[in-house]
Amino acid sequence: MTIKTLDDLLAEGVQGRRVLVRADLNVPLDSSTLGQIRIADDGRIRAVLPTLVALRDAGAAVIVMSHLGRPKGAPDPKYTLAPVAARLDELLGTPVAFAADTVGPSAQSVVGGLGGGEVALLENLRFNAGETSKDESERGAFADQLAAFGEAYVDDAFGAVHRKHASVYDVPARLPHFAGGLVLREVQVLARLTGQPDRPYVVVLGGSKVSDKLAVIEALLPKVDKLLVGGGMCFTFLKAQGHEVGKSLLEDEMVDTCRELLDRAAGRIVLPVDVVAATAFAADADHDVVPAYGIPADRLGLDIGPESVALFAEAVGTAKTVFWNGPMGVFELAPFAAGTRGVAEAIAKIDGFTVVGGGDSAAAVRTLGIDESAFGHISTGGGASLEYLEGKTLPGVAALEK
Ligand code: 3PG
Ligand code: MG
Repeated sequence: MTIKTLDDLLAEGVQGRRVLVRADLNVPLDSSTLGQIRIADDGRIRAVLPTLVALRDAGAAVIVMSHLGRPKGAPDPKYTLAPVAARLDELLGTPVAFAADTVGPSAQSVVGGLGGGEVALLENLRFNAGETSKDESERGAFADQLAAFGEAYVDDAFGAVHRKHASVYDVPARLPHFAGGLVLREVQVLARLTGQPDRPYVVVLGGSKVSDKLAVIEALLPKVDKLLVGGGMCFTFLKAQGHEVGKSLLEDEMVDTCRELLDRAAGRIVLPVDVVAATAFAADADHDVVPAYGIPADRLGLDIGPESVALFAEAVGTAKTVFWNGPMGVFELAPFAAGTRGVAEAIAKIDGFTVVGGGDSAAAVRTLGIDESAFGHISTGGGASLEYLEGKTLPGVAALEK
């Protein structure tokens, strides 16, 4: 299976050619200041810059497209890419022409007026029902409109390659298509994990729901030496061990499944031994460290406790390969950030190959001010990296192979 790459496209020459680039500029936004939208973490914008710069500097007319959030197939000002266009402009150091729609009159005039060495960004792809439609012909009709803008297509949206969406799956069927450097690098790194990772291989999983991670736990369990579970999902496992979890996040219907996983894992699944339990989901709520087997009925666990951090740090400390996905607690609230910080710092320190997967964990690393270069790789894809590790076919990668 051969995939043509950005280098192949550059070797063909792109001077004056219109190149459509699918990027994943779905960045976390912070709208806590009234009337102001701020980009909370611009990691995904930075990650695609090398591709955009290479095309721009080679003289291509670069048309960037992305989704942001999950609008329902119609324009919604909450999800405009306008703040992203402004940030992209700053990072590129050249003006970015922003189209106020995706394939409408504004996009047509922006693309029509775009010269070689210039960059444009279309408005949110998901403002159009055709982008995410399950109906092939509806998706195809939208893909036709997008494809008409370009003469070649580059996919560098690793975070979206697991979506069978028009811009990811159908546009490459209509244009000469190439994989960007980010997509290539991400796939190479993940292939190292599914191949023969150096042992011990330790996986750290967090995040809120077991149901979201069930498939990846099933796929990883036979491969890992240890699977450390923190975050909101640990409470369903603690419940499966017979502990009361108070008002903590709990997926009742997953308790039996967790019990079965614990049996099968024969000690390789490691759970927190203490948790930070609070009276409410708030930064100013009363909170204490309590044993994991003794969460009071009126409290909810919002982070793993210091003994758990030590336990997890010891397990990753001897590892030669670590994959981490999902925060250990509600790191956005200062009193519940220590678990995520402690585990991240322990992973950063090891002498081995470390991969951070997932938008939230990557954002945690950056917002907690941990040195990004201490990790082997920080993935821009959460769902995408998990689905890769599950062994699923990624529609966006399959489309590039055809
Ligand atoms: C992500 O943030 O996971 C990607 O941008 C994909 O977004 P989605 O989960 O809304 O499809
Ligand atoms: Mg997602």
